Amino acid sequence: MPGVARYDEIADFYAEGWTDVIDDPASVRLLDMLGPVADLRVLDIACGHGRISRELARRGAAVVGADISEALIARARAAVHDTPLGIRYLHADVTEPFEPDLPPFDVVACAFGLSDIDDLDGAAATAVRALRPGGVFACAILHPCFPGGRGVSGSWPGDARHHTEGWWRADGELSSLRRRVGANHRTLSTYVNTFRRHGLRLDELDEPEPAPAWAAGRPDAARFPVFLVMKWVKQ
Ligand SMILES: C[S@@+](CC[C@H](N)C(=O)[O-])C[C@H]1O[C@@H](n2cnc3c(N)ncnc32)[C@H](O)[C@@H]1O
Repeated sequence: MPGVARYDEIADFYAEGWTDVIDDPASVRLLDMLGPVADLRVLDIACGHGRISRELARRGAAVVGADISEALIARARAAVHDTPLGIRYLHADVTEPFEPDLPPFDVVACAFGLSDIDDLDGAAATAVRALRPGGVFACAILHPCFPGGRGVSGSWPGDARHHTEGWWRADGELSSLRRRVGANHRTLSTYVNTFRRHGLRLDELDEPEPAPAWAAGRPDAARFPVFLVMKWVKQ
């Protein structure tokens, strides 16, 4: 199932709203979980406009970033035009085999990409194919158990059930990103069982708390787990 480049339509909105300042608790935790990455080969799947790719490269990794949105890849390339970080960007659907000649990676990272990727099996197969044995797959997502709250979209539609999986689009006053591009809801079991089936072993799991300022403004939403960060190892 080829993916859909929904972010092409909103590339400016996304690139301007999610900047190089990596201060969201889930991305910070994902980078912490990876530890030192200097001289490691890292593939950033669903890299968007490259905010995580650039941070990994600044930490010394040799980074390849891949995304299905041509418009976001163009922004990622433009962002390193004046200060090259040695990142190679590919316009690619990461749910299908791409660039077969890439040498094996030590790390595959995916920050907030999985709920935008329509074919989880395809993405997991790509991550495993790309990794060397013992390599790490680390991902951050909105917690699949997060129901949202007033003005905040959760992992699934407010009028649906946690156990009903599928693509949906937020409406009303909910988060404008999810109103524009929608999201795929999957249960935690689906994520865990898919990665296990592809030969990954869970090494570390965390549910970082949202930033205090965010939580203070959304007390009903902040009662629930908001983020999920997972580190898997290729067997
Ligand atoms: C929320 S953005 C995250 C971007 C980036 N990782 C970040 O943290 O800013 C989700 C990204 O997933 C990408 N995406 C969705 N489906 C994809 C696919 N099949 N292959 C590659 N990228 C995909 C979108 O184009 C978008 O850039």
